[in-house]
This record gives sequence, C-alpha cells and structure tokens, in this order.
Amino acid sequence: MKIICVVGARPNFIKIASLVKEIKRHKEIDCVLVHTGQHYDNLMSDVFFRDLQIPKPDIFLGVRSCGQIEQIAEIMTAFEGVCLEEKPDMVLVVGDVNSTLAAALAANRNGIKVVHVEAGLRSFDRQMPEEINRIIVDQIADYLFITEESAYRNLIKEGINKNKIFFVGNVMIDALKQFFKKETGIVKKMGLKPKDYCLITMHRPSNVDSKERLIEIFDILDSLNEKIVWPIHPRTKKNIEKFNLSDRLKKYTTLEPLGYLDFMSLLKRCKLTLTDSGGIQEEATFLGVPCLTMRENTERPITITKGTNYLVGSKKEIIKAIYAIGKRKKSIPKYWDGKASKRIIDILKKNEN
Ligand code: UD1
Ligand code: UDP
Repeated sequence: MKIICVVGARPNFIKIASLVKEIKRHKEIDCVLVHTGQHYDNLMSDVFFRDLQIPKPDIFLGVRSCGQIEQIAEIMTAFEGVCLEEKPDMVLVVGDVNSTLAAALAANRNGIKVVHVEAGLRSFDRQMPEEINRIIVDQIADYLFITEESAYRNLIKEGINKNKIFFVGNVMIDALKQFFKKETGIVKKMGLKPKDYCLITMHRPSNVDSKERLIEIFDILDSLNEKIVWPIHPRTKKNIEKFNLSDRLKKYTTLEPLGYLDFMSLLKRCKLTLTDSGGIQEEATFLGVPCLTMRENTERPITITKGTNYLVGSKKEIIKAIYAIGKRKKSIPKYWDGKASKRIIDILKKNEN
C-alpha cells in the first residue's frame, strides 16, 4: 500500500506528525510525504519538523503564498505531477487549508482514493475559505476520519455514506500528548510567571484583514489590563504594518511565531488564551486552559460543551466569559487519548487488504 501524505500550512504539520510516525511502523506501507510550500518561513514550517520529529518531506512543491486561486491552482498542477509519477493507492490530507483542498481535488481527478483526517467539522460560516475547503474535500473523500460526534451529524446531513465515516479521535492531541511535557524554559527565560499572562494568537481574515476590526481588538486587549504575550502570525504582522498600527503593539510582549514546543510551554501555563485559531481551542481543552475564541462561531463545538472554550467577539462577551471560567465542569472529549493515528492506520489497512 502506498500513501502520499500532504502538508502545507502550520496546523497540517502538527496533524501529520503522529500519522507519519504510525505509518512508518508498518513496513508494508510505503509513505511519501509532500510539502506544498504554502507556509515556508522557518518559524512557520521547518521548526515544526524539528520540534515534532517529522521526517524531511520527500517532495517539496515550493508553491508559495500568492493569491488564493493561484495558490490552489499551482498546488493542483504540481501535485497532479506527483500523483502521476508516484501512483499512490491513496492521498491523505488533513484539516482545511488550501493545500488540503488542492491535493484532494488533484487526487480525486486522477482516480486516487482520498483520505480526509479531521473531516466533518462545520462552522456554518461560508465566508470562511476553510469552510468551503472542508465541504468540498468531504464530498470527494473515500475515508472520513472524525474528531468529534458533531462531525458525524454534519456529514450525514450532507449525504455522506455512513460506512465512509470513522470516529477515531484527534491527531492534534496525539502530538500534544507526546510532546507537551517537553520543556524549553521559555516562560522563565521571558521572565514570566505561570498564570500571570494572557497568550494571544490571531490570524483569521475576519479579525486581521480590516483596520477597523484590528483597532477593536487592540481596544479590547488594552481594556483587559493584563500582561499580554502575543506571537504574531505573518498575515497579522503584515496587516498591522499596512494599517500603520504598529504603535499599538508597544504595550504588549510581542514575539515572532513560535515553534511548537515553545508555544506549548507558554500555553499550558497561561492564565487564559485569547485566540481565533482552530487548533488552539482543542489544545486548550486538553490542557484545561481557559480559551476565549474571538469568533462568531466554531467548527469545534465539543470544545465548548465539554472543554474550556468560550466564544467571544466583543469586550462584553469576554467579561462574561472571564466571570464564567471555572464554573463549568470540564472534561476531555472521547478518543482524545493519543491513539487516533493508530486507529486511522488500522482502519486503512483492514479496509484495503
Ligand atoms: C492559512 C489557512 C488557515 C490556517 C492558517 C494557519 C487557508 C485558506 N488558510 O492561513 O486556514 O488557519 O494558514 O496558520 O489555507 N506568510 C508568510 N510566511 C509564511 C506563510 C505565510 O509571510 O511562511 C504570509 C504571506 O504573506 C501570505 C499570508 O501570510 O500572503 C497568508 O498566508 P496563507 O497561507 O495564504 O494564509 P494564512 O493566513 O496563513
Ligand atoms: N502554534 C505554534 N506557534 C504559534 C502559534 C500557534 O506552534 O506561534 C501552533 C498551535 O499549536 C496551534 C497550531 O499552531 O494549534 C495551529 O496553528 P494556527 O492557529 O495557525 O492554525 P489553525 O489551527 O487556526 O488552522
């Protein structure tokens, strides 16, 4: 059995880490790792390969960030070449980024089975490019591996055959379980005290692509009167500079994007995290860290019903959430136990033999 695993953006690297490791345990499976190049900076890409001990990609497509259409089209064209050359039995994609969509489409059009890990999540917000990516990939996938029960309901409603859906847990938690105890000493090095700072990440277009919303976010952060630690995503940095808002950052401790181990060291000790990230909602739930998600919706509702997540868009909602922190009983969602990758590979082997 030959599987091509495709990654392109920061969250993909984390999701693929345990899968590649698990595949490599099975000598009868030939694994080819392809990096599209969607994220390319050392701090958005290479550091994750080092921190998570992911083998170097076998093939690097080198498609950099550009317009979304150009990016999807270029990845499709380049990846079709890889499919024709490598002739895999299946192409495994993770998450919902443009690389996920482009690789899945190219595989499907070449008659290759598509495996979607983290299928079925829905924000029901079609303004988000990720929501469209998820819907399309799920429609063409042959295997749909899901992280929470809501995904099953979403997929059934969209007409997906239930025999293609497998509830296996969360590969992001596989990585977290393996690595979150590894220390980098960053908290001490930065002179921070546990539970004495808020960790911020922000990169969704709805939050960072307009000057008005960015100003609103700065106003909210200022009003919290907390120590703010903020590793800034390149998209956000570029926009803050473009809108001449860099002065507003002076009150905070800002950092370049962090590697996985540094980020986890900061996340597990923070007082709370304020974010619009998909992955951080799940990681905070696992770690029991209060998470305020600055969005109108989430495709990961289990992090609210079972976990530590609160949806907040405005200052009023943040204050309400801060008041509510600790009042709800928290638990770790079913199958978020570090064994998702094993379940996935076992199912693929059983079904393909
Ligand atoms: C992408 C994903 C988003 C995911 C996020 C994770 C899509 C549609 N979006 O958003 O779902 O949550 O990654 O971080 O696929 N840039 C750099 N260096 C890099 C990478 C990007 O400077 O290594 C800059 C580029 O100027 C680029 C911008 O960031 O134009 C946005 O990059 P892109 O990959 O298009 O989207 P993200 O906002 O990162
Ligand atoms: N992350 C990191 N360094 C950072 C910010 C995030 O290592 O400076 C990790 C974190 O574990 C998070 C993951 O990157 O879960 C996903 O990244 P991002 O928030 O960019 O993508 P999303 O999950 O929203 O698609």
